[in-house]
Amino acid sequence: MSKEGNKLWGGRFSGEADPEFARFNESFSFDRRLFEVDVRASVAHCDALIGAGVLSTAEADQIKSSLAQIADAGRDNPKYFDELSSEDVHSFVEARLIESVGDLGRKLHTGRSRNDQVATDLRLWLRDEIDRLEPLLREAQRALVELAEANFQVVMAGYTHLQRAQPILFAHWCLAYFEMLARDRERLIDVRKRVNVLPLGSAALAGTAYQIDREAVARALGFESVTRNSLDGVSDRDFVIEFVSAASLVMMHLSRLAEDIILYATTEFGFLELSDAVATGSSLMPQKKNPDSMELVRGKAGRVFGHLTALLTTMKGLPLAYNKDMQEDKEALFDTVDTVNACVSVTTTVLRNLRVNEARAREVAQSGYMNATELADYLVRKGMPFREAHKAVGKIVMHAIERRAELNDLPIAELKSFSALIDEDVFDALSLEKTLATKSQTGGTASERVADELKKARERL
Ligand code: ARG
Repeated sequence: MSKEGNKLWGGRFSGEADPEFARFNESFSFDRRLFEVDVRASVAHCDALIGAGVLSTAEADQIKSSLAQIADAGRDNPKYFDELSSEDVHSFVEARLIESVGDLGRKLHTGRSRNDQVATDLRLWLRDEIDRLEPLLREAQRALVELAEANFQVVMAGYTHLQRAQPILFAHWCLAYFEMLARDRERLIDVRKRVNVLPLGSAALAGTAYQIDREAVARALGFESVTRNSLDGVSDRDFVIEFVSAASLVMMHLSRLAEDIILYATTEFGFLELSDAVATGSSLMPQKKNPDSMELVRGKAGRVFGHLTALLTTMKGLPLAYNKDMQEDKEALFDTVDTVNACVSVTTTVLRNLRVNEARAREVAQSGYMNATELADYLVRKGMPFREAHKAVGKIVMHAIERRAELNDLPIAELKSFSALIDEDVFDALSLEKTLATKSQTGGTASERVADELKKARERL
């Protein structure tokens, strides 16, 4: 490693690198993930060198065919990388090229630097990964829609402060997460625009001294535009941070979904059951069925948030332009991509392996005075100001708690003793069906509303 590393700047150096420092300095053990995009970018640069008058067409053809062989070797033989050492992926590819075509290979690095190379590689790589992640999120949304459709009739308790609040449709709960993931997808698509800009041609920091047609390179690599300032082009990683930030929001949403599922799958709640395929048992307690899948998703959110903090911290004090600190961006980004991909996929699988306990969910939805707000609204309809109604119902609830009865189980005479406005029709108003049906504005949990949103959700996929 040290030997070949020194070849890159051999002229200025006479001594060998300390082996421990060489190991510390290298990034090839992880940035080999950029191998494929590094070759792709090199091919585009090679073509640009023809226009710049550095390479003849024949020379460029020879380099490109060698690069294609190098790409094949890396694709077909996983050991290719282990057998050969290099400081980083850029020097690795260049060294293989020189091995293959000799001195001609030494011309490829004309007019570029590893600084604009690595920025270009990272953008190419991340663009592909965004294009992979976005459909995974769509698949998770699809699983939510299917879960909602299959359990459309299920009513359950909605919570605030984790206290029983108001009844909702289970499908309404599913679609809440659908909306979160919809915004996550939009964010990724938006980040992608700023990822998709070409820094190659910035060279080390000042721009390239050769007549390289940067726009043509951008077109060849599928970039939307080129960076407008060479210092900025090689030295910012805001696109990485933006992606990790968008990924953090994905993880935050998945973690909340995981937490809901974990909670609802407890005996105490009992709304959901995970199938054996996505749960584990205990080595000691024979009765256990643990939601490890969802706990890991919840846990891994912390790891992605950590990467976000690490990246922001690494970047905040760096003077322009490139600094080696920035090599730290890769492991954070790679691990973020791996983690979020795995978590989205596993979550989709869990959603497809959930059984909903309709009877239990309904039982809970009908207890705990979740129709108290309904009673207040009933009094409002009869002419009482809301604040007054709220107070009156509070007293009725206190009375009902003493009586160990739900509001709709109290005799009409007792109800009337709190307000003369209460009549027989109160029982209809307090029914679970009415409680749901009144929430019929956009965004509400009434059946027709949710059915409509579910249909729209299908269309949005
Ligand atoms: N391995 C380096 C990185 O990941 C590539 C750029 C190296 N540039 C340099 N001037 N040493 O950042």
